[in-house]
Amino acid sequence: MHTLQFQGRDITSIEDFTREEINYILKISKTMEPIAKKGSDMLKGKILANLFFEPSTRTRLSFEAAMLKLGGSTIGFGDVENTSVKKGENLADTVRTVENYADIIALRHPLEGAAKLAAEFSKVPVINAGSGSEEHPTQALLDLYTIEKEKKKIDGLKIALVGDLRYGRTVHSLAYGLSQYNIELTLISPDSLRMRREVLRKIQTKIPVTETQNLEKIIPQIDVLYVTRIQKERFPDQAEYAKVKGVYRIDLETLSNAKKDLIILHPLPRVDEIAAEVDSTPQARYFQQVWNGIVVRMALLALVLGSIK
Ligand code: CP
Repeated sequence: MHTLQFQGRDITSIEDFTREEINYILKISKTMEPIAKKGSDMLKGKILANLFFEPSTRTRLSFEAAMLKLGGSTIGFGDVENTSVKKGENLADTVRTVENYADIIALRHPLEGAAKLAAEFSKVPVINAGSGSEEHPTQALLDLYTIEKEKKKIDGLKIALVGDLRYGRTVHSLAYGLSQYNIELTLISPDSLRMRREVLRKIQTKIPVTETQNLEKIIPQIDVLYVTRIQKERFPDQAEYAKVKGVYRIDLETLSNAKKDLIILHPLPRVDEIAAEVDSTPQARYFQQVWNGIVVRMALLALVLGSIK
């Protein structure tokens, strides 16, 4: 009998979870694989509110699909244009309204700290579906699930994160999550997009971390390459974006020196950082990663809503 407690919990940061809790979420996610194919009424009568103040394809639709596959329902918005936010309603009031309509809220917001603020005001659990450049904890959980599913382990791997490590929120959550495991982490980015210092300081106390700009030198050594988009929309100065646009591009030539069993992940959307020719290689796993988003979010909904203990 385990003593982990998920029911009623907010999920605002991956840092809220111990390694034991992450492992339990990954275990429950695996049990969701067959359920995702045949459906269930586990969450019948429950309602998820998707409040998306920023664009999304995968996170919003996979939360919605996850809830539907478990027999629940969804409400919400993917665009604030048609909501009372346009009349000046603030986040706290929006949340205190929506909690009357739903059992759980998934929130994506451009501001860092938005999920934590929403959780303070909400009577129902809040899941952070992406908060500015800060965090994207459910993406990190599906990334960890993908690594474990594909490599049959997480401990012992050499993992590299490449691209925009400053503005990309997924890499912040993933770095925190990976730091719970015995891995070696390499951070590959241009100088202006190095990993946020507060994240680096924390993870360096737990795992060996190397920073470099040289992808070619690192690629023969690594087991997992996690590629990210340069987050154009988050640059305060577009001239700075122009300097780093297209700085890393993974193509067949890049992979010529890679291990045969390297896996390439990407939270998506991609722009030009992975060439289309890579999609048909055995190393490409980013579309399998998309499927994993469903089962991990099913697990989270079932755990937080208490239908799985
Ligand atoms: N990975 C991810 O968060 O994708 P979306 O922005 O499409 O939700």
